[in-house]
Amino acid sequence: MTVCEYRPGLEGIPVAQSSISYVDGQKGILEYRGIRIEELASHSTFLETSYLLIWGELPTKEELEAFEYEIRHRRRIKYRIRDMMKCFPETGHPMDALQASAAALGLFYSKRALDNPDYIREAVVRLLAKIPTMVAAFKQMRKGNDSVQPNDDLDYSANFLYMLNERKPDPLAARIFDICLTLHAEHTMNASTFSAMVTASTLTDPYAVVASAVGTLAGPLHGGANEEVITMLEEIGSVENVRSYLEDCVQRKSKIMGFGHRVYKVKDPRATILQNLAEQLFEKFGHDEYYEIAVELEKAVEEKLGQKGIYANVDFYSGLVYRKLGIPTDLFTPIFAIARVAGWLAHWKEQLEENRIFRPTQIYTGVHSVDYLPIEKR
Ligand code: CMC
Repeated sequence: MTVCEYRPGLEGIPVAQSSISYVDGQKGILEYRGIRIEELASHSTFLETSYLLIWGELPTKEELEAFEYEIRHRRRIKYRIRDMMKCFPETGHPMDALQASAAALGLFYSKRALDNPDYIREAVVRLLAKIPTMVAAFKQMRKGNDSVQPNDDLDYSANFLYMLNERKPDPLAARIFDICLTLHAEHTMNASTFSAMVTASTLTDPYAVVASAVGTLAGPLHGGANEEVITMLEEIGSVENVRSYLEDCVQRKSKIMGFGHRVYKVKDPRATILQNLAEQLFEKFGHDEYYEIAVELEKAVEEKLGQKGIYANVDFYSGLVYRKLGIPTDLFTPIFAIARVAGWLAHWKEQLEENRIFRPTQIYTGVHSVDYLPIEKR
């Protein structure tokens, strides 16, 4: 066996072979199954893209209709899960609520048949259908309200916004939200996908796979950065303060949220699309005072840190889009999770086709042959 050098964070170490997505971090290219993200954002929908990611090909009209139909009729969550969610503290973070609720699905649907394509499809449909309902339900329940039942007349994204706000969304808002989901659906071997794959490699059930990935996505270095961006823009407060804020961060060696990426050394192509979507929303629904601050910050970071390959990532503009859609800041990361379920499940399915349990190694840095010291002598 080849012994390779230790690389913190597994930087540059391949942990799988995959045909799901591809990133060229120097050229700023992202493809799902070979199709550029810009193409999918313009022409596809989140569910069509999910099908592409999971089954490897764009669906025919009939296949897509059947998939959408199944998902539409699986959106409801069991009353016992709703009752469980009502007991969650209203001050708890929605990502923690989502992780617990996703794991709870396993209590109801745990019968595992990982070599049965019908079981795989069933789990995919159930998770894609129910995760948005859980996110919206927690938003209602923490205010003491009952959850809003899914509306069968609405498509995936419009229904989520409806459950969140108790009113049918504007069509442009729903379409833009759907594009956001498409942009976040998959991104090669990131931390939460790796977490999903490690969990999947033990042949546990897909609900445990998704729950462990949700827990990983929650951190501020991964999906949690989109929330932190808004907190940062609030803190900066005005365009005039941008450069002094940046100087201060650089002095303190603290990270500027929404910037930098392990793979992209240019602007993330998803950030470019999201910035454009934010502008479309401002045109229709009015301006956001934070936008100028964000644009100025992006310019300043590019000047100061561009030579180190630090540019805006996907999380930088997504928060501004969600804010304009009236979504509370602490739901930004759960929305990332709604989208990324597609990618996690694509990797789960791919891995099951040729599974081997993840069992890496370590470099031991401790001591040997130490005598046990009785407690009274310590
Ligand atoms: N602000 C300032 N400096 C940065 C930043 C940043 N956002 N990101 C990286 N750097 C610097 C870092 O200080 C280091 O400098 P030096 O070599 O002088 O010590 C160098 O760039 C390499 O950084 P790193 O932290 O070793 O890079 P990494 O590949 O381990 O981390 C990252 C990647 C995304 C965690 C990091 O860029 C970061 O913490 N960014 C801010 C949080 C963020 O926006 N996260 C969302 C990531 S994209 C979506 C997702 O994955 O969920």
